[in-house]
Amino acid sequence: MQKIAQGAEAKLFQDREDIIKQRFQKEYRHPLIDNLLRKQRTRRESRILEKLAAANFPSPRISDFDDKNMEIRMDMIEGSLIRDVLHEKHAEFSREIGKRIAQLHNKDIIHGDLTTSNMILAKETNKINLIDFGLSFVSEKIEDKAVDIHLLRQALESKHHTISDDCFSNAVKAYTENALNGTAVLERLQKVEVRGRHKSRK
Ligand SMILES: Nc1ncnc2c1ncn2[C@@H]1O[C@H](COP(=O)(O)OP(=O)(O)OP(=O)(O)O)[C@@H](O)[C@H]1O
Ligand SMILES: [Mg+2]
Repeated sequence: MQKIAQGAEAKLFQDREDIIKQRFQKEYRHPLIDNLLRKQRTRRESRILEKLAAANFPSPRISDFDDKNMEIRMDMIEGSLIRDVLHEKHAEFSREIGKRIAQLHNKDIIHGDLTTSNMILAKETNKINLIDFGLSFVSEKIEDKAVDIHLLRQALESKHHTISDDCFSNAVKAYTENALNGTAVLERLQKVEVRGRHKSRK
């Protein structure tokens, strides 16, 4: 098996057409807490991937899950990370990102880590797939949805600084067109962002 990536929490291996995501031990955490966290994130991720598969949402199909070895086996999405290609057609991609997030939120799924490294433009279907659901959870709260969108803005600002404003407004427009309660979420977003600015001044 070939290692294809290593994030903060997990190692990713390719096994033919599959990806294996293995959450490794973190030495700085107490082993009991570390085990609990890894188990919780592995379970969360697999549960959400199953839900998304049932809804035919563009995300990897999960084929196996092992919460002793903290592993998930899923389809490999061949294509490009949005991080690397966003600038090529940023308005179009941003609109699709907004629509995908609305589809998630309409099922009360909060992604929790909306960065452009967690989005893949699939070669086969030409759709933007979302990945990395280890921090995801189910919630119908407007606040949780607003915070999710706020994280997207921060991710765009930090990795795509020169086009982030345009990307964000396109994403938000598509979000409101597709989300069941988009207007309420965006109203809340303003409060979340005011709070964020106060926090950073302290
Ligand atoms: N199903 C997949 N198909 C193709 N590439 C994938 C897939 N899953 C992960 N990758 C690649 O591996 C990278 C890291 O995966 P992922 O984002 O799931 O892990 P991570 O960021 O370490 O996770 P976590 O935030 O849960 O610790 C992705 O950015 C992507 O390049
Ligand atoms: Mg990731």
